[in-house]
Amino acid sequence: MPIQHTVFSRPIRLQMPPKRFQAVLLVVLLLIVVTFYGGSSRPSLPTYDDVADVVKHPKAHVPSLGELPAVPKPFGPSAHRPPPAQANNTATSAYGALEWLNDFKWRNPFSSSVTLDENTALLPPLSDRPPIYTYYDVPGKQDKHTSAAENRLILAWRRAWWAAGFKPAVLSRVEAMHHPQYMLVQRMKNLDPKIAFEMMRWLAWGHMGGGILVNWLALPMAEYDNPMLSFLRRNEYPQLSRVQSLDNAVFFGQRLGVNDAIHKVMNNALLENVTESKDKLTKLANKEGGIVANLLASEIAVDAKANGIASYNMATISTKYKTVADKLTNTTQAEGLDLLANLINSHLHLTWQEQHPEGVAVVKPLPEHTTALMYEATNIARNLTQCPTSPIPKSCPPNRPKCKPCDANKAMKLQEFPEFVNTTKFFTIGTVPHPYTLTSLHYTRDAIDSNFLRNNAKRDIWIRELTRKSIPKEHTESYRVLQFKELVAATPAHTLWLTAERVTQDDLDWIFGFELPQVASDTTEPSSSNEKSELIIFPRPDHPKPIERQNVPDEKWVAKEEMRLKKARDAIKSKDRNMKLTVEAVEAWSLADTEAWRFSRAYSARRRMERKVWEEEEAKFAGSEKKAGVRPGEGGGRWIDRR
Ligand SMILES: *[C@@H]1O[C@H](CO)[C@@H](O)[C@H](O)[C@H]1NC(C)=O
Ligand SMILES: *[C@@H]1O[C@H](CO)[C@@H](O)[C@H](O)[C@H]1NC(C)=O
Ligand SMILES: *[C@@H]1O[C@H](CO)[C@@H](O)[C@H](O)[C@H]1NC(C)=O
Ligand SMILES: *[C@@H]1O[C@H](CO)[C@@H](O)[C@H](O)[C@H]1NC(C)=O
Ligand SMILES: *[C@@H]1O[C@H](CO)[C@@H](O)[C@H](O)[C@H]1NC(C)=O
Repeated sequence: MPIQHTVFSRPIRLQMPPKRFQAVLLVVLLLIVVTFYGGSSRPSLPTYDDVADVVKHPKAHVPSLGELPAVPKPFGPSAHRPPPAQANNTATSAYGALEWLNDFKWRNPFSSSVTLDENTALLPPLSDRPPIYTYYDVPGKQDKHTSAAENRLILAWRRAWWAAGFKPAVLSRVEAMHHPQYMLVQRMKNLDPKIAFEMMRWLAWGHMGGGILVNWLALPMAEYDNPMLSFLRRNEYPQLSRVQSLDNAVFFGQRLGVNDAIHKVMNNALLENVTESKDKLTKLANKEGGIVANLLASEIAVDAKANGIASYNMATISTKYKTVADKLTNTTQAEGLDLLANLINSHLHLTWQEQHPEGVAVVKPLPEHTTALMYEATNIARNLTQCPTSPIPKSCPPNRPKCKPCDANKAMKLQEFPEFVNTTKFFTIGTVPHPYTLTSLHYTRDAIDSNFLRNNAKRDIWIRELTRKSIPKEHTESYRVLQFKELVAATPAHTLWLTAERVTQDDLDWIFGFELPQVASDTTEPSSSNEKSELIIFPRPDHPKPIERQNVPDEKWVAKEEMRLKKARDAIKSKDRNMKLTVEAVEAWSLADTEAWRFSRAYSARRRMERKVWEEEEAKFAGSEKKAGVRPGEGGGRWIDRR
């Protein structure tokens, strides 16, 4: 008896094979089911042209849709859960217990007056990060290198949006399958793959309950408080909208609006017989805004004044960035994507540099004996002021054609100051030392005892030196600490405060939203790292000039500083009773300095923590550090130590 079987929902006929084969068949079928549902292996291999097409139309990423059945997948890839409706994320729970509290009363010079525990820092509540979604789906098996390159690009996308204050999530077909209308799209036979892709994208977005949907080649490229980015961060989108001239790269709208739109599209007469209306649909799909927007026509508002987002679609790449476009061919796909990633990274870095016209300032209060303390800050400052590595150094981001490209001969300024200069034209980097560390360095003492403290050490020298010029003399230390806290917690941040006792800085990329240059030209001219590379690298800026009238210590003394710094780190961590008492005495001697140290330390620990938690949640989705092959930095978990 012939039985009706289906494979990928296409009916096939097969005769019952002889008995002994039935068992084998069963095993094979079972294997197929397990690999198919359980893993991410995909049924068909795309041709080279398919792959090339993918990049030519990054907005419509899928050349062909394998017809996946919409059954729940017990072992399948997991979907993002939609965020709860209108959650009030005051975010006290996850981080509260560690070593800080989030409290609206954080504007208090001394945390302990609120927390009643002097080791707990009081931080401002985390600001809400509205979710932002992108859709990524590869239909068939794809070249390993291409996938890796795409994952790196998506990671760059996630990083940039994270730094801009959003919570970026990468959706896929799995989310679309959770949408009630998914089967309707499935049943449309002969639907053009590009159109189907756009619909899946909307379904996945609808499943998440609306918000912001952007293409993964659309990145924020403007100052933090650019009107459009600020508007998007507010997470209230009264009207379903797209952005003029960005095609289908950016949509935003509320849950109701999005699902309403999907509903209307599904009931559109043109979709009743896709074969019949093929030409009309193709025409609509090629119009600015994409198929869904054009089937809806007037229901999607068009925002005309938005300039905060740069979209790297194929049209833009091939007209503006030819070097990259030339590589996006059949055989050099992965290479081309990597060039694109570098180009985007350089534009993000450039945008950041342009926002700080006076350059980078390294603050070094009490400069005589604190050279070793500033290594890390100087390192970061030099890389930030270096011209970004790029395949096309003279190019501008697509949304800002009149930018000022980085010029290695007139590079961003890098200066050292003995005190904080209160202007946002600088980006300021400082190192906050524990008072024990600073006392040891400043007074060049290998060990400190209470006698020395009482007889020789001045109180709160760090905070006083730091704010000597920006805050008038008559103000107290508590006032200074409070101003300092405001500075650390400010958004947008124009300062970065490291703590002297932490050795690694592994989340800089997420703070800035781009990767700092890691290689530099070894001559004074731009060059490339090897003959085949199309990337231009730039010389690394010199160390900043020493502060005027400061004696520059010679190497012998700096080596001593390094040694003292190491000893101080050990002392602060020490479990030894006597040592603990000494450290406590130093803390009590310089309450304001201690508070500044605790606050900035807790603040950056929480920032790392917030990101790590998010990274872990996203680890299994495209574009996570794990999928992009980025190893999380060393020293994870350092934030746990209470001291
Ligand atoms: C969120 O906050 C608003 C106003 O503070 C309140 O009316 C609403 O009930 C809260 N919603 C939830 C889910 O807690
Ligand atoms: C759709 O239109 C085509 C061409 O006009 C026609 O051959 C086909 O029968 C139609 N299909 C349905 C289900 O009406
Ligand atoms: C891509 O490669 C295929 C076969 O390898 C070839 O037929 C096709 O012309 C190539 N396409 C381009 C755009 O180079
Ligand atoms: C910086 O300047 C602003 C306003 O001019 C002021 O409110 C703030 O206290 C200053 N901060 C510091 C640390 O000097
Ligand atoms: C800065 O660049 C140098 C190479 O030029 C690299 O060794 C170093 O790790 C970079 N530092 C940071 C913080 O990115």
